[in-house]
Amino acid sequence: MHRGLTKAIIPVAGLGTRFLPATKAIPKEMLTVVDKPLIQYIVQEAAEAGITDIIFVTHSSKNAIENHFDSHYELESKLIESAKHDRIDALKSITPKGVNFISVRQPEALGLGHAILCASHIVAPDEPFAVLLPDVLMHHPKKGCLAQMSNYYRQVHTSVIALEQVPDDQVHKYGIAGVLDADLRITELVEKPKPEEAPSNLSVVGRYIFTPRLMELLKNTKPGVAGEIQLTDAMAALLNEEVMFGYEFSGGKSYDCGDKQGFLRANIEYALRDKVLGADFRKYLASLDLS
Ligand code: G1P
Repeated sequence: MHRGLTKAIIPVAGLGTRFLPATKAIPKEMLTVVDKPLIQYIVQEAAEAGITDIIFVTHSSKNAIENHFDSHYELESKLIESAKHDRIDALKSITPKGVNFISVRQPEALGLGHAILCASHIVAPDEPFAVLLPDVLMHHPKKGCLAQMSNYYRQVHTSVIALEQVPDDQVHKYGIAGVLDADLRITELVEKPKPEEAPSNLSVVGRYIFTPRLMELLKNTKPGVAGEIQLTDAMAALLNEEVMFGYEFSGGKSYDCGDKQGFLRANIEYALRDKVLGADFRKYLASLDLS
């Protein structure tokens, strides 16, 4: 009997230097896309996939993330007193029902693989787990990326990694997968390759479902690219032992919000899709004349 997928690790310890000065006193995961912080979209996506335990791997400067998902008694009672129902709803919708939050610290910035390892004592030795990178926002009008992946995981019972095509000049920014055939069986994984060394242009896009073995292999993973313990290297080791499938997210769109271009695009496109703001914002954009 396979254990169900109920735990997700979200690494949030990174200092977000690419977004300075905005991220000096605010975690990058708390930057907003329209009216919600990035991390709220990620937690929502995890909850929609049936995740009930979210493990933040965090840093002392990032308490705002935990506070965002905690209750704020004074604010709630003020809004109730003044009968501001829409704002009460906005507050209540932050934390999906039935989701628990667990925080662990990453005491040193030793890389993404190390961050995941910091949660190893919370995931049981026979338990699969998901990883969501909060820099990547996945928009979908119906079924989120992790929910699609977890459906697939229930069929294949082996690790499933979200993959997406990127232009050749972008492969150096991502983990890149070589795949065997149409079912995207992964044959090779390389972290941030030079274009001429990339096995394809299918990039690892920040959503992962792993079998328990990955955590064991991470324990023996040595520092790789940039001197960091790389999740991609442990995944490459897992390939020697188990089948791993890529998964192309369908019907939605991803935004790399770890990058200013991606973050700005996400804001504009989410605003255009917004039921309340969208129509006026579209008119405003059409009328813009910055000459
Ligand atoms: C990380 C991973 C990389 C992945 C990327 C997705 O890189 O190491 O394999 O493709 O996230 O956003 P980072 O963006 O942390 O440098």
